[in-house]
Amino acid sequence: MHRKLYYIQTFGCQMNDHDSQVLAGMLEELGYAQANAPEEASIILLNTCCVRGNAENRLYGHLGNLKPLKEANPGLILGVCGCMVQQASEREKLENEYPYVDLVIGTHNIHRLPVLLSMVMQGQRVFEVWDENKEGIPEDLPILRPESHHALVTIMYGCNNFCSYCIVPHVRGRERSRKPEDILREIRNLADAGVSEITLLGQNVNSYGKDLEADIDFSRLLAMVNEVPGIKRIRFTTSHPKDLSPSLIQAMKNLEKVCEHLHLPVQSGSTRILQKMNRKYTREDYLNLVRSLREAIPDIALTTDIIVGFPGETEEDFLDTVSLVREVGYDGAFTFIYSPRIGTAAASYPDHVPEEEKKDRLYRLNEVVNAFAYEANKQLLGSIQEILVEGPSEKSAAIYQGRTGSNKLVHFELPATMTVKPGQELSLRIVEAKTWTLTGEVVEKDFKS
Ligand code: SAH
Ligand code: SF4
Ligand code: F3S
Repeated sequence: MHRKLYYIQTFGCQMNDHDSQVLAGMLEELGYAQANAPEEASIILLNTCCVRGNAENRLYGHLGNLKPLKEANPGLILGVCGCMVQQASEREKLENEYPYVDLVIGTHNIHRLPVLLSMVMQGQRVFEVWDENKEGIPEDLPILRPESHHALVTIMYGCNNFCSYCIVPHVRGRERSRKPEDILREIRNLADAGVSEITLLGQNVNSYGKDLEADIDFSRLLAMVNEVPGIKRIRFTTSHPKDLSPSLIQAMKNLEKVCEHLHLPVQSGSTRILQKMNRKYTREDYLNLVRSLREAIPDIALTTDIIVGFPGETEEDFLDTVSLVREVGYDGAFTFIYSPRIGTAAASYPDHVPEEEKKDRLYRLNEVVNAFAYEANKQLLGSIQEILVEGPSEKSAAIYQGRTGSNKLVHFELPATMTVKPGQELSLRIVEAKTWTLTGEVVEKDFKS
């Protein structure tokens, strides 16, 4: 008999992605298999994000598109999970305006999927969302990871920072760190299964361990992960500048498996705006951190997140952001237009910047960000870079791709006599630089079949 199929669509960040992998793992254990398209599936789950308004709008667009599928196949189970449904207002909207949604699960109870699904199969419409998980972090949930060489490993959940614009602490709850022994056991198992690169995940990994009894912090956790045989590269995200300790800089410098890349969201280059954002550092604090990082790790690649159009942001504040971007010379940046989120402090701040102005600032900022990203890539022309192979590129099966330790995407062709496997390390000479990608050539010493 054919296995029944499921389809999961992820709208959010890597945390959301990780949750989707757990949802998939549970469905596989129940005997379902992954569908290639929603049309084939008997269960569709939409794993939502609400960090900005456009993520939510996209979700409602998709839900509308799925309505005909549900009408054609009343047995189809349509579920909505993730950050968005932690908000009562969105739950009400789903309940009243989207009667064809059968199942809603929040961020704290995804492990309840099997139980809730069986209730739906008995004909109930099930909405279950918790404010927190009183039982603590569920360990050893099944998980289906899409890649064989790379894995996301959550080290902590939630966030305590309450940046004034941000909904995440409201929908993900307070910081909860996993125990180091649980994390290490998972990583050892991954290494045994052939994974060579891991990304440690948390909203603010730099405060890892503060809520644990064990005497541990993030830099010590990194040192322990560095010892796991078989793991070649360790990445992590995200770091809050206020908690980036000198010991973490030393750990990045001394631990050979920790990649020379740091994503360090700055959000704004204006101290006045940073204060209103409740970021707890100044422009100078941030620039001093960057200086210390570059002193310790001269070839470190730095990327960031920036918001334009925060309430009250003047042209002068915006120009402070642009000048900070120039001063740091980022390798890349995710740039966003401020989006008011109901329930956050900033939503009630005065002086909302007009939409046209926000768009114009984003455009001008991106011009500068892109120019520096291109410049950083051009610096690598002619150099030999060690990459970790990911596999054939998205564009063409004949062109492979991999990443440098600094997280730059490199495309390359394989000599006819050569084969490579995902997770393998390879030296490439960089022969072409574009804004977002590099092209490399296999260096002769690595020619082997
Ligand atoms: N925990 C991470 C970020 C999570 S959200 C951190 O602190 O760095 C990812 C990014 O989305 C943020 O860094 C911020 O730049 C952006 N963001 C968050 N809330 C936003 C909002 N209301 N409007 C626009 N961008 C937002
Ligand atoms: Fe949001 Fe700030 Fe927490 Fe990041 S640190 S998730 S931006 S509140
Ligand atoms: Fe991530 Fe979006 Fe939730 S950014 S934590 S999926 S609100």
